[in-house]
Amino acid sequence: MSNALTTSSIVAVVGSGAMGAGIAQIAAAAGHTVKLYDTRPEAVEKAIAGIRKTFGMLKEKGRMTPEDADAAGGRLQAASTLGDLSDAKLVIEAIVENLDVKRQLFADLEKVVAEDCLLATNTSSISVTALAAKLALPGRFVGMHFFNPVPLMALVEVISGLATDAQVAARIFDTAIAWGKTPVHAKSTPGFIVNRVARPYYAEALRLLNEQAAAPATIDAVMREAGGFRMGPFELMDLIGHDVNFTVTQSVFNAYFNDPRFTPSLAQQELVNAGFLGRKSGRGFYRYDDGSKPEPE
Ligand code: NAI
Repeated sequence: MSNALTTSSIVAVVGSGAMGAGIAQIAAAAGHTVKLYDTRPEAVEKAIAGIRKTFGMLKEKGRMTPEDADAAGGRLQAASTLGDLSDAKLVIEAIVENLDVKRQLFADLEKVVAEDCLLATNTSSISVTALAAKLALPGRFVGMHFFNPVPLMALVEVISGLATDAQVAARIFDTAIAWGKTPVHAKSTPGFIVNRVARPYYAEALRLLNEQAAAPATIDAVMREAGGFRMGPFELMDLIGHDVNFTVTQSVFNAYFNDPRFTPSLAQQELVNAGFLGRKSGRGFYRYDDGSKPEPE
């Protein structure tokens, strides 16, 4: 029997960037009232407007009934303070990938939400055990790791830290299924499953670039067309965001006691320093602001 959160339960999403907006979209489409919070109110407004536009497009394409699309759009609410999230039954955090900032947020959230509210993090690489360690009720804390773009990617890693209550992980697992996703249970290890296994995919591509073996567009085309990957490593890093991708690599590198296999790339650090974060800033390995995309050489 499914133990998923009932649709009458309010879901809160903290952080309304790329991931938070995607998570809010699927939770609202699944029937929940969703409250979005961000330290930048304009990010919440942008996310809600973007999701409603998406529901409108799905309506036009006949992939959502007009009633469902309008109702889902109407279930999105902007929260202007953390206190507005007090009636949530599940809070999913998708803020900056930083242990101290996330810990502070969850400490603040614990003062606001009820004892039966589940707390989930969408962290890509930070230890779920470490994030839970200072909480008053660490058993209700779990990783719920979505992939980008959330509405299209089926996988959700449900991450248990040492203190996570097994029933909480099971509830999140069932909830992911109710939201149309394909969850998998994993323990809290650096990078979990996907971000651990994917590190060498980015790292070797960045080493190839460093050695001037081939241009990013060539490497991407080879991995896509001959390797069978849906996206090449450079276009994927541009989609993820170099700030996020670089931080995840640093975090995995540190967590494995500076294992050289996970050494972060100086070239990627330069992109971050320049603010060339990928699609979201208009420029990364490719340009998105002028519509050009280099062809393989
Ligand atoms: P993003 O940069 O698009 O959005 C982060 C949002 O969090 C921003 O709007 C920012 O204003 C807000 N924020 C920062 N500190 C905050 C705080 N203390 N309280 C409330 N809001 C705050 O980042 P993105 O890509 O959405 O990533 C968010 C999280 O999801 C990170 O932990 C990242 O590692 C993880 N993640 C990212 C994936 C990706 O492909 N981008 C994939 C899976 C997980």
